[in-house]
Amino acid sequence: MIELRHIYYKVKDGDGEKTILNDINCTFSDDCITAITGQNGSGKSTLTKIIVGIIAPTSGNIFFNGKDITHTSIDERAKMGITYAFQQPITFRGITIKELIDIASKEDNSIPKACEYLSKVGICAKDYINREFDKTLSGGEQKRIELALTLAKKGECVIFDEPEAGIDLWSFDRLNDMFEKNVCYIVVSHQTRLLKRADKILVLENGTVSAYGDSKEIINNLQSYQCRRVGEE
Ligand SMILES: Nc1ncnc2c1ncn2[C@@H]1O[C@H](COP(=O)(O)OP(=O)(O)OP(=O)(O)O)[C@@H](O)[C@H]1O
Ligand SMILES: [Mg+2]
Repeated sequence: MIELRHIYYKVKDGDGEKTILNDINCTFSDDCITAITGQNGSGKSTLTKIIVGIIAPTSGNIFFNGKDITHTSIDERAKMGITYAFQQPITFRGITIKELIDIASKEDNSIPKACEYLSKVGICAKDYINREFDKTLSGGEQKRIELALTLAKKGECVIFDEPEAGIDLWSFDRLNDMFEKNVCYIVVSHQTRLLKRADKILVLENGTVSAYGDSKEIINNLQSYQCRRVGEE
């Protein structure tokens, strides 16, 4: 379980400062998929980067299973079981996808085991397992492999930043296979299908929480929260 208490994130803006996140308070429970949605620039990625430890909040506290992790490093948080799939994956040359899965899962996987993670994100494993994770992969392929690597880490709290981005609608339904029991999922998304799959939805607007609740209830009201990219179906 992740709890955020009075999270602020401010950056320098000329001579003054700009508030990107403004007093965020929220609990992300275990065995629950919480979707974070909201307009471009509302602070979704910033919030997830703060949870993972990529950036530090200006003030406020982050708790993981009751422990204050505000001042722990990204590595420590990863060891505790907080894992993250970037909005825009980072690729590497000279390392195969199979090797990356082994690193992510911290064991030397059999080929079938490694293939399991790739199949969950709709990739035909035999065509990819020995390929390098580099820019020759299409955007959607990079995104899916990033998701597979996140799954291989088997985190207790798993954060996906727009997992649907760049993934064709035909394969999109397979992303449902990613979710397992007893995990705390935080999924940034603009996609109605993923929002419907979530248990809870948190809506960000200009760095503040404008709505939070059961997904059905929030989806019914989304238009009034002005999330114009939502409702694409
Ligand atoms: N270090 C920074 N300096 C200045 N502005 C920043 C900084 N970090 C984030 N921002 C601004 O904060 C806002 C929130 O950014 P963020 O990436 O969290 O948005 P988002 O909700 O994830 O948007 P999107 O839907 O486009 O991914 C944006 O306006 C962004 O330009
Ligand atoms: Mg973002």
